[in-house]
Amino acid sequence: MLQKQKTTKKIVSQQLPLILGKRAFGNIPKTPLKPLEGEFEKPEIITSTIPGPIGKRLIEDLGRIQEIRTIHFLVDFDRSFGNYVVDSDGNVLLDVFCHISSLPLGYNHPSMIKALRTRDAVQLAAHRPALGSLPNVSWGPKLHETLMKVAPEGLTRVFTCANGSEANENAYKTACMWYVNQRRGNKPFTDEEIQSCMLNKPPGTPSLSILSFEKAFHGRTLGALSTTRSKPIHKLDVPAFDWPVAPFPQLKYPLDQFVKENAEEEARCLSRTEEIIKSNKIPVAGMIIEPIQAEGGDRHASPDFFRKLRKIARDNGVAFIVDEVQTGVAATGNFWAFQKWGLDDQPDIVTFSKKSQIAGFFHREEYKMTAPYRNYNTWMGDPLRLLQFEVILNEINKDDQAMLRNVNITGNYLQDSLKELAKKYPHLMKDVRGDGTFIAFDSPTVETRNSIVNAIKLNGVELGACGDQSIRFRPSLVFAPKHASQFLDIFESTISKLK
Ligand SMILES: Cc1ncc(COP(=O)(O)O)c(C=O)c1O
Repeated sequence: MLQKQKTTKKIVSQQLPLILGKRAFGNIPKTPLKPLEGEFEKPEIITSTIPGPIGKRLIEDLGRIQEIRTIHFLVDFDRSFGNYVVDSDGNVLLDVFCHISSLPLGYNHPSMIKALRTRDAVQLAAHRPALGSLPNVSWGPKLHETLMKVAPEGLTRVFTCANGSEANENAYKTACMWYVNQRRGNKPFTDEEIQSCMLNKPPGTPSLSILSFEKAFHGRTLGALSTTRSKPIHKLDVPAFDWPVAPFPQLKYPLDQFVKENAEEEARCLSRTEEIIKSNKIPVAGMIIEPIQAEGGDRHASPDFFRKLRKIARDNGVAFIVDEVQTGVAATGNFWAFQKWGLDDQPDIVTFSKKSQIAGFFHREEYKMTAPYRNYNTWMGDPLRLLQFEVILNEINKDDQAMLRNVNITGNYLQDSLKELAKKYPHLMKDVRGDGTFIAFDSPTVETRNSIVNAIKLNGVELGACGDQSIRFRPSLVFAPKHASQFLDIFESTISKLK
């Protein structure tokens, strides 16, 4: 049996040149967020490799039955706390990646643990309902109290499911059904439609498309994968719909030095998008876009770009779907990242997952199903995940939204400090960008990027990569200025040793 190794307070293999108490990055700003009592003070690395010997053995064993080449290390959830993750070998790492942006309150948050120790939580864990047919008594009231409280204005309905791919997949179906229903004049299906759909033929299964953007990531199920354009490895050998792809702006940094070039780039992308919609041989029923293209390399566009894109969708009768799977739930400094755009006409559909724990999408009334069982499955989400979302929402709203303010304060501090570092180490980092703590920068090459991520892990930080040469920050919402300061110290001491 696996013996748990005791976490020692001593750093054995890596002497971190931490200048704790003395900081290289200006004054640490104050945060309104109350500190988590009992959190680790700093990372502690006790093995010479990560994974260490225990992790390696377990991973090797797992490798006999599952793919292991994507595994960073094994997590000991029991011993992890706050912003610090403990691995199978007792190493303590500062986690700024948080399970690919899906751990909003960090590890073992006291409010989360308290809520999961209740009778309600036990009942929900013991009986996962078929929500479309036999929802638990509290499902409706809880949806009103939680998800509908953060529903974008005018998006009066919510569909729930299990993950981001499924959210987008069902959103596409909803957009297509809405598109055809309008053209059918809201009339019943014809006999021809009913018969032809069983042969996967038109008119019952019409030829329609969902437009997405270069470098987009919207998931890996068949429909979602057809709109994913970030990396070939996700798509190779899998059949795909012949759906159109439009260019996403490639902005130049610093933004204030490339105002004209960036405006031209955005105008080019917008006009090409409209051209595609108007000329595509398969009618475009919907378009989907991320507020910040995350997996594709944290690519941003201006609020003006998104406002104009929304208008193009509206003018051309195309459903405007915003994918907030990675950007949603406060990390960008707004609850939803698209709130920054200042739209006067809200999106038609907004999808979510990751930090909300429960996945799904909000949609307008006119996108409501015309008949039952059109979008349906066994579980249709999970009330236990909704309970978790309730805890997260309560924490975000607590103390006059101290957590959201913390994200903005910490994010500004981290981003400003990284910009300073980029001036000092231009051969290692450039184009620091972000909103809230949803921050990234680029390395000159994929090799440099990977060597930073690998080296910093051995100094006690779990950091994320994205795109071809970007490093991304996806910390929890309890990541405070003091954690950012600690990160910056470790980061500089790590990169200063790289060529
Ligand atoms: C923007 C976006 N959409 C969709 C997905 C797919 O979500 P999931 O991995 O839960 O299927 C992801 C996952 O990273 C994502 O970042």
